[in-house]
Parts: sequence; C-alpha cells; structure tokens
Amino acid sequence: MNEHTKPQNISHQADELEEHMMHELERVVTKSTLHYLAEGKVEMDTSVGMWAKHPGAVFNMGPDPRLPKMPEKPTLIDYFRHRFASHAHLLQSATHALKAGHNEKVILACLLHDIGVVSFIRCDHGYWGAQMIEPYVDEEVSWAVRTHQALRFFPDEAAGYKYPDMYIKLFGDDYRPEPYIVAEYERARNHKWYMTSRLICVNDIYSFDPNAKVNLDDFVDIVGRNFRQPEEGLGLDDSPSAHMWRTMMWPNRFL
Ligand SMILES: [Fe+2]
Ligand SMILES: [Fe+2]
Repeated sequence: MNEHTKPQNISHQADELEEHMMHELERVVTKSTLHYLAEGKVEMDTSVGMWAKHPGAVFNMGPDPRLPKMPEKPTLIDYFRHRFASHAHLLQSATHALKAGHNEKVILACLLHDIGVVSFIRCDHGYWGAQMIEPYVDEEVSWAVRTHQALRFFPDEAAGYKYPDMYIKLFGDDYRPEPYIVAEYERARNHKWYMTSRLICVNDIYSFDPNAKVNLDDFVDIVGRNFRQPEEGLGLDDSPSAHMWRTMMWPNRFL
C-alpha cells in the first residue's frame, strides 16, 4: 500500500457512507454555520452547494432519524433522556444539594445549572441555560443558573466555596475572567438571590463518591412541582425560548 492509498480509501468509504445515509434518510441533512465555526471554518451549507453534491435533493425539515426519537409532546425529562449528552454531573450536583437539605429551588437550579453545556454550547453556558428555562421556572432559579457561570470564578470561603482546582487544570493558572464576567459577579454579589447561585457553585462538584447512586427518577417529582411543563410539549409551545428546545429536538432542519 503506498502512502496515498489509505486516504483515498477512507474518503471513498466516507462517500459510500454518505450515500447510504442519504438513501436511508431520503432527505439531505445540512449543518448550521455554527457547526463549521466550531471546526474553525467560516463556511456554510448552501442549497446550491448541496445540490452540486446531491442533484435534485430535498432537505431535511423535521426529525433526524439518526437521533433518538422524541415523543410527540416532549417533557424536560425526555430532553434529559434523549438529547442531553450526559447528565451524570447534573444528577450528582442535585443529589449533593438534596442530601445537604436545600430547598427545591436550589435542587432544581443544581439539576439544571449546566444544561447549556450538555445540550447546546459551552461558551456562556450559564446564559444559554438560563434563557432556555426562564419561561418555565421561578425567576430565582433561572437567575441562579445564569450567574453561577460568573460566581464559579470567584471564591467565597465563608460560604464554603474556594476557587476550583479543576479550573486551574482546565484553564491554566494565568486565566483571568473577562470584564463582563467580573461585572456579572459584582452585580450578583449584592443581589438578594446571591446565595442561591452560590449554592450551585458549592454543589457543583467534579469529584464525587463513585459509589454514590444517582438516578434521574429521584428528581422527577421535584421537576414536576417546579418546572411548568407546557401542554403542547416543551419546544412546541409559544414561550420565548421554545425555539431553543425545538432546535435541540430538530438540530438540522434546513430552516
Ligand atoms: Fe457551569
Ligand atoms: Fe457544573
């Protein structure tokens, strides 16, 4: 095998796989510009470009059959099960808060604090996560989810929170939060709900007893009491953030 054989084979296999997928899907799946940006490319899937590759194709405008099927009227728990890439960290934080005897608002805030990361996007995950849940939870919960992102960078030893060693590992010891994070922290520090957000940080732990059992079922009742599930299904309602849930449900609709 010469040096050039392997890449050709791989690209041939990729083409075959793509053909196969197209046949299976019948509709061509496109990617959003954000997916390309995340790969370091300023590019987009255009209809003209896609037709050059797949003449006469029609584009996916609904569910992606490669993803787990969502029920007709999805609930928050359905998103946990079928769209969140991981929920161990969320369940661990919420379990920690539950065991510490915190109220249901704090437990729910812990359960939802990183949904931005696990379902959507890392950058500014506190803001995205808060916006997603805002229409459905008590204002204190979404406020705490938004601000935990900033508070995580600032210790409050009296509240039992020191700067996380994990952040030094993740970002290096020379990382300093940007001015908008510092300003958010300063606003939050004097806010009446400061402690709710601070308690997210306290329970936001990366290391956890590996033998501890965590189960989404333990939180179904708390979610039921504190998250206003829309009758039409989460994402199929007309709340200001319904489109974000729909996007998660149908991430590659053409429009
Ligand atoms: Fe977070
Ligand atoms: Fe977290």
